[in-house]
Amino acid sequence: MPTVLAIETSCDETAVAIVNNRQVYSSIIASQIPVHQQYGGVVPEVASRQHLETLNQEIAQAMEQSHKDWGQIDGIAATCAPGLVGALLVGLTAAKTLAMVHKKPFLGVHHLEGHIYATYLSESTLDPPFLSLLVSGGHTSLIYVKDCGNYETLGETRDDAAGEAFDKVARLLKLGYPGGPVIDKLAQTGNPQAFALPEGKISLPGGGYHPYDGSFSGLKTAVLRLVQQLEKEGREVPLADVAASFQETIARSLTKRAIACARDYGLNTIAVGGGVAANSGLRKFLQAAAAEHNLRVLFPPLKYCTDNAAMIGCAASDHLSRDHTSALTLGVHSRLPLSQVMNLYEH
Ligand code: KG4
Ligand code: ZN
Repeated sequence: MPTVLAIETSCDETAVAIVNNRQVYSSIIASQIPVHQQYGGVVPEVASRQHLETLNQEIAQAMEQSHKDWGQIDGIAATCAPGLVGALLVGLTAAKTLAMVHKKPFLGVHHLEGHIYATYLSESTLDPPFLSLLVSGGHTSLIYVKDCGNYETLGETRDDAAGEAFDKVARLLKLGYPGGPVIDKLAQTGNPQAFALPEGKISLPGGGYHPYDGSFSGLKTAVLRLVQQLEKEGREVPLADVAASFQETIARSLTKRAIACARDYGLNTIAVGGGVAANSGLRKFLQAAAAEHNLRVLFPPLKYCTDNAAMIGCAASDHLSRDHTSALTLGVHSRLPLSQVMNLYEH
């Protein structure tokens, strides 16, 4: 399999890795969280500038730690979609430049395909088909993984992503950014049954509910109303109970849909990815439900759940081994359905 240098700059993580298939030779990640924390969320312009400032030294560091020289690198890859356009451009331009200078094939990689490949980095025996539950700050998707570049999205959120819901609820509870880890920690000491909150089911015109799609904006509004009501009554907001009830509602909602989807499609493995895969409530809920239904659930280690370049390199190495390469004229896209991954390559 080819060895690839991969760059990830789609949001607030500047990352570079050198990967051969499922083997990671080096993986460098510089998180911008402390920079964005002062604004309460990611500021796109600030993210691009930070990527520019740190990327070159990270490339040098990744090369050094991998003990590889340029002659041993078979291709250069970067995330090209979806994400913040300015941030993506920094990584993509760097990758194209390196590809030209070192005369290597260049590959643009779909960020969500990277999150799917993250599971391969810790599961050497995992092969398609399986169901991917992708839960990050920008996406909540159930994806039928059929082969490299061949994906069918079976379920999605109609509005807020799971991570976005954690971040927004944390903001309204004045807990800071990013919200997921703070709520997760606070929830450990709270009562998840303290408040009944809506799971965000999507009604179908003919009656019943959509089996795999969901919505989290109603849940966020329900937490807001709950807090306003408690404040109106002059009661102190029991933060831990609110966090635990909110977290359990999200975990239950994602678990129900993932299990139903895997069973309906006859898939016996669910691979979870994205930042929210770190959530202890989701891990507990999904593992228990999967055991009941004889399904296997895989959670990559935390460093591969959140944004990183190793997962991008793993996907690029597989594409390159199939002679999929991108044109140097490839641009960035803020949105791109996963079904269009193969449009990124000339093959
Ligand atoms: O995958 P990721 O690093 O970036 C995107 O591609 O979006 O995911 C970041 C998201 C944030 O919304 C963050 O609040 C959430 O993942 N997150 C968590 C936890 N750790 C990170 N959500 C719930 N529980 C956690 N422990
Ligand atoms: Zn991501």
